[in-house]
Amino acid sequence: ESIADVYASDESSGVSPEVQARWNGLISGFTKLYGHRPDFVSRSPGRVNIIGEHIDYSLYDVLPTAVSVDVLIAVKVVPSDGEPFVKISNVNPEKFPTREFSVPRTTDIEIDPKKHEWVNYFKSGIRGALKFLRERYPDPSFAPASIEVLLDGNVPPGGGISSSAAFVCSSALAVLKANNHNVSKQDLLDLAVVSERAVGVYSGGMDQAASIFSARGYLLYTQFFPNFAVQHVPIPKAEHEITFLVAQSFVTSNKADTAPRRYNLRVAECTLAAVVLAKLNDVTLPKDNSSLGYSLRNFHNEFMRKEGRLGDPLEYQVDSVIQAAMEQLTQEEGYTREEIAKLLEITVPELEAQFLSSFPVQAERFLLRQRALHCFKEARRVLDFKACLSKTNTLDEHHILYLGQLLNESQESCRTLYECSCPEVDDICAIARRAGTWGSRLTGAGWGGCTVHMLPQTKVDAVIKALKEEYYYKKFPDISDEKMAHAMVISKPSNGSFMITG
Ligand code: ATP
Ligand code: GLA
Ligand code: MG
Repeated sequence: ESIADVYASDESSGVSPEVQARWNGLISGFTKLYGHRPDFVSRSPGRVNIIGEHIDYSLYDVLPTAVSVDVLIAVKVVPSDGEPFVKISNVNPEKFPTREFSVPRTTDIEIDPKKHEWVNYFKSGIRGALKFLRERYPDPSFAPASIEVLLDGNVPPGGGISSSAAFVCSSALAVLKANNHNVSKQDLLDLAVVSERAVGVYSGGMDQAASIFSARGYLLYTQFFPNFAVQHVPIPKAEHEITFLVAQSFVTSNKADTAPRRYNLRVAECTLAAVVLAKLNDVTLPKDNSSLGYSLRNFHNEFMRKEGRLGDPLEYQVDSVIQAAMEQLTQEEGYTREEIAKLLEITVPELEAQFLSSFPVQAERFLLRQRALHCFKEARRVLDFKACLSKTNTLDEHHILYLGQLLNESQESCRTLYECSCPEVDDICAIARRAGTWGSRLTGAGWGGCTVHMLPQTKVDAVIKALKEEYYYKKFPDISDEKMAHAMVISKPSNGSFMITG
């Protein structure tokens, strides 16, 4: 692929001067640093999630798409007789210092999730890629290639548009290429999803799917259950062109550091909700491929199987699991470990060994009711959103308002039931709605990060003006022009991962 294939905003136009300059800077920076040109550059983009928040790890469908910011990794394979090694630098070395480390020939590279370091994300990519090669092509004489690397990422880190997945997907792609393997998208996805967890965040597969499979101009309807599948969904026409605006809160939530109280705790709560609901309804869950092995979608399936309703429309099925969660998970105040163990008829140490030992969590009470209700209701909203998009080629005012309402309800649920919003994000959404968006919500993991807004093209200027005046200048009076320029962007659904050689 050429850079024009990746970045041109439509089939006919070329690459913008900014893109060309960044590209040239990466190649000349590499050449200056290592004394020769790179062999190739791998690239993977960030993503914005339109709807379906915090339900990918419960294996429900989500609707993200790639954005145009990305992680570029320039690589040269270098000869080495001894231990294979990696030399890695960042175009921003003050913030992300240069590192050098060796790569074991036959075992997984060590990653310490307790020590949060930018190179952990590259190591995740190496780990996934080499594990894949060893398993797929067993060869006792295989030695990983030694490489020199320069990375340039312009996805805001911790900003809710998944710099981490862009980084890990691009790293894995680079390491596979350096070891002479042209990987398929599906294989890259499978290994990238699992390998990113090595940094200590038990994320689902949405970010990697969007980073790898997106196509310019389409949203990516992504299914995880029973198997992974994607569908490229066009954004329909409407009287006023539908636009997605992405606005940063500039509240950074580092997921790896806060995982025990935030992200990973939610993963644990959803898993516990699934096994408790299964127990209460007397259904046995087979293991699934969610990170802890038992997902709410899996419970849903077995519950429907028991009732003989697997042939029902999915919407009706989801309504029934919402009902079950409402009636059966009654404790608004949450459940202690003792209470959950009692419901499952196991001991507390057994509970901890089975469900709470993969990663540390810090919680006295697990809010099973709220988390399950968010998940099931959000899953229903995704189905409704997709159905509405697919209904006609042209959306009328009524449809558009309905889509906006689903986005607003998603935000409300993230705020109240899932507790993954924050005051700044709530503020941005309220300001944007007053200025004319159809729907506004957080996107990504939340607790800060990013927001996404659906609005008519004609309202873009008014919304940007309102957010500047009522949020950015108010909260950050000294905000630089450069930072402001990155605060809000019109998101154009863009292409997924690419390898650029020559
Ligand atoms: P979210 O997962 O909410 O969408 P995110 O992926 O941007 O947001 P994290 O999952 O916390 O946030 O990952 C951010 C981490 O990724 C950073 O702390 C840093 O270690 C690494 N990272 C991202 N971009 C770069 C970059 N350009 N250079 C070096 N490290 C980066
Ligand atoms: C992060 C994770 C994703 C997903 C979102 C929330 O971005 O990496 O897998 O769970 O949070 O929807
Ligand atoms: Mg991330």
